[in-house]
Amino acid sequence: MSAQQNVLSLRGVTKTFGAVAALTDVDLDVAAGEVVAVVGDNGAGKSTLVKILSGVHPADSGTITFESKVVGIPTPAAAQHLGIATVYQDLALCENLNVVENLFLGQEVRPFRLNEVEMETRSWELLRQLSAKIPTVRVPVASLSGGQRQTVAIARSLLGDPKVIILDEPTAALGVAQTAEVLNLVERLRERGLGVIMISHNMADVRAVADTVAVLRLGRNNGVFAVKDVTAEDLIAAITGASDNVVAQRAARRTEGGVRP
Ligand SMILES: Nc1ncnc2c1ncn2[C@@H]1O[C@H](COP(=O)(O)OP(=O)(O)OP(=O)(O)O)[C@@H](O)[C@H]1O
Ligand SMILES: [Mg+2]
Repeated sequence: MSAQQNVLSLRGVTKTFGAVAALTDVDLDVAAGEVVAVVGDNGAGKSTLVKILSGVHPADSGTITFESKVVGIPTPAAAQHLGIATVYQDLALCENLNVVENLFLGQEVRPFRLNEVEMETRSWELLRQLSAKIPTVRVPVASLSGGQRQTVAIARSLLGDPKVIILDEPTAALGVAQTAEVLNLVERLRERGLGVIMISHNMADVRAVADTVAVLRLGRNNGVFAVKDVTAEDLIAAITGASDNVVAQRAARRTEGGVRP
């Protein structure tokens, strides 16, 4: 993928916590309209990567290029200002507030910007764009399903008109039907031309929705694959660290084949 198409590129990003090397020399590219799944075992560095991109932690070194400019992301506000939105696994919704209130919570800094009717209209617009299955926007979030909550959290993150959206394990707590609903949302985000980074442990979800899968292992890149080309075996091998063996075995097989009479 050419550099011009990438909305976001990381090069050589490194982050340590004391003696722990959480990320070492990590590269990542995300193009507009591309869904990049970031996968890896526990402790691989996925959350650290998300936190660096969302301005929670600064990187120790490395370069982040956003829309062709080298940028720093020192704070969550800086991430938001650039156009990088993050939907965390806990969603941070207010259970007792309704959908409209949750969508517009935190916009109080400009209290007279939108009135009630406008907020409701805008809510419906957003939900329609996401093909969301939410019957009414005046119900408390507590009464919504897991998939619907994920929808509300994603819709809220779109209010700032981001170019990149990071979804942290968006289907982790969901059953089959709700997972399908959320994967459908991811498709809508791609259609809107957003660059999507999806952290996931679920290989079926990755296969269903991602274009590209980037594997982290022990804080380092361990392969970037086009989802349509990668086998489940190779992906698991890259995640678990068996990939060196797989590659070595293949090479050995090829060599054997070559020398065999
Ligand atoms: N704030 C921190 N202080 C110290 N060490 C940390 C901190 N955050 C992460 N780490 C360490 O950095 C490494 C990467 O952790 P990270 O949470 O990024 O992995 P992960 O891929 O998100 O794992 P999981 O799948 O379990 O969520 C781990 O060894 C972890 O213990
Ligand atoms: Mg994590």
